[in-house]
Amino acid sequence: GKVHYYDFVVKESNFTKLCATKSTLTVNASFPGPAIRAHKGDTLYVNVYNQGTYGVTIHWHGVKQPRNSWFYGPEYITQCPIPTGTNFTYQVLLTEEEGTLFWHAHSDWSRATVHGALVILPADGTTYPFPMPDAEQILLFASWYKEDVMVLMDEALRYGGLTVLSDSYAINGQPGDFYSCSKDTTFRMWVDYGKTYLLRIVNSVQNTDMFFTIADHNLTVVGWDGSYIKPLKMSYIMITPGQTMDVLVTANQPLSHYYMLASPYFDGQADDFDKSITSAIFQYNGNYTPPSSPVWPTNIPGFYDIGAAALFTTRLRSLASKEHPIDVPQSVDTRMFVTVSINMMRCPNASCAGPDGNRLASSLNNISFANPSLDILQAYYRNISGYFDENFPNKPPNLFNFTSDALLTDNVTLSDQGTRVKILDYNETVEITFQGTNVMNSGENHPIHLHGFRFYVVGTGLGNFDNMSDPLTYNLVDPPEANTVPVPKDGWATIRFKADNPGVWYMHCHFDRHMSWGMDTVFIVRNGPTEETKLRPPPAYMPPCGADALAGLQ
Ligand code: C2O
Ligand code: CU
Repeated sequence: GKVHYYDFVVKESNFTKLCATKSTLTVNASFPGPAIRAHKGDTLYVNVYNQGTYGVTIHWHGVKQPRNSWFYGPEYITQCPIPTGTNFTYQVLLTEEEGTLFWHAHSDWSRATVHGALVILPADGTTYPFPMPDAEQILLFASWYKEDVMVLMDEALRYGGLTVLSDSYAINGQPGDFYSCSKDTTFRMWVDYGKTYLLRIVNSVQNTDMFFTIADHNLTVVGWDGSYIKPLKMSYIMITPGQTMDVLVTANQPLSHYYMLASPYFDGQADDFDKSITSAIFQYNGNYTPPSSPVWPTNIPGFYDIGAAALFTTRLRSLASKEHPIDVPQSVDTRMFVTVSINMMRCPNASCAGPDGNRLASSLNNISFANPSLDILQAYYRNISGYFDENFPNKPPNLFNFTSDALLTDNVTLSDQGTRVKILDYNETVEITFQGTNVMNSGENHPIHLHGFRFYVVGTGLGNFDNMSDPLTYNLVDPPEANTVPVPKDGWATIRFKADNPGVWYMHCHFDRHMSWGMDTVFIVRNGPTEETKLRPPPAYMPPCGADALAGLQ
């Protein structure tokens, strides 16, 4: 493979959207940030200069990075933030993935405007498992806030609650026709009649899944999360934050332009639903008849269409072919059952302003994850105790009826706080069933994302998981591979993977408000027996951690 070098300058820059100008953190002053294009087998060196006013990190979302946790990016998990005025060079090994992924900031909520596509083309001498498209187009979905995201995060941490909805969504940085002062800049994708386009779709929205569709055009999904899948013809897609999809579309309709829409699956602005849809235009080159009135998609699922969201995921299948083989674990060494909940927690300090000394929180197995002051990777590698506990449980502490509010006791509505990680042996096979819950009457989808692996999604369903009958429905033949799985509202999803990547790997809900409320944990995969199965040694320089943590290092 080839080696590519990039400079990412992280800095504030001004943007005017929704009739207002604000300064926000970007890479190289662009929103979305620069797209990276490379081939499978290549290596990237990305030198990140932090010219912003607070520490940041950059994450290579969905890249396995074998044994290379040092360059993974989640703050306080594999590194401390890059301090203002300094730089850090990431090494990114594109060994296994192919298709579309993305990179984004992985500190606090700065992902909002610090993100960009990562396009991984087939390795030299190989090609797509579908006919060569005529051209391709990145479509990146994001949230736009008039307010500073750090202020919003601070509010979310002090009060909880839904004070953190976006003011608009955006396709390639543009809010689209439905929002004030946006009509002139609506994103247009220019197409030629008769050609087929590969859409590389990235959802980097902060806090909701999106439905996407193009009026009068069929979508054929051919890739998910950096691997190809069996072609799936759909009139819409459902894509969660953290997911990426490759979709073919043929420009074969008679009029000059058609609307594309991305609309939220869940959004507290439901009363005002139309305003939270972002639009873009699929525009034909040449002299075609303009429509007499705008051509809107008629098939986009509505707000809270749980069925449409769940159905989409269940239809994805990996290629599982000779050229694209898969290796689904047929037996399981460690089985975990993990509840995914919104709940309350005792305020950790006086700055919190929730009711009764509590605030809204979220949890996995009733534990709200707390970031340590020294990154877990360093604490683990250097054997420094006191920064994490190795006792993340294999199941929740209480059994209850997950999808109904009944039978909730205080120790289910109130989570524990801690930095509790799960240790795995090298090459152990793991199965995790995630159970969405309705604790606090707040069931929603949760896109659970795992670093360091692509896992197989072997099953998903609505309601309470039944450990007698549901495992009988598992697909162990051609399940799709992914890095982010939607755990349906009041439903469940089961994944399997082999712990063949030694290192420290974060797992979290890809809604930023849930991640910062504690819907996360960490896997530490022990070294294997040989040099090639051990975590690589750290680079000579890692960004320093805070004074406290540094004292602990001595
Ligand atoms: Cu895209 Cu840990 O995140
Ligand atoms: Cu969530």
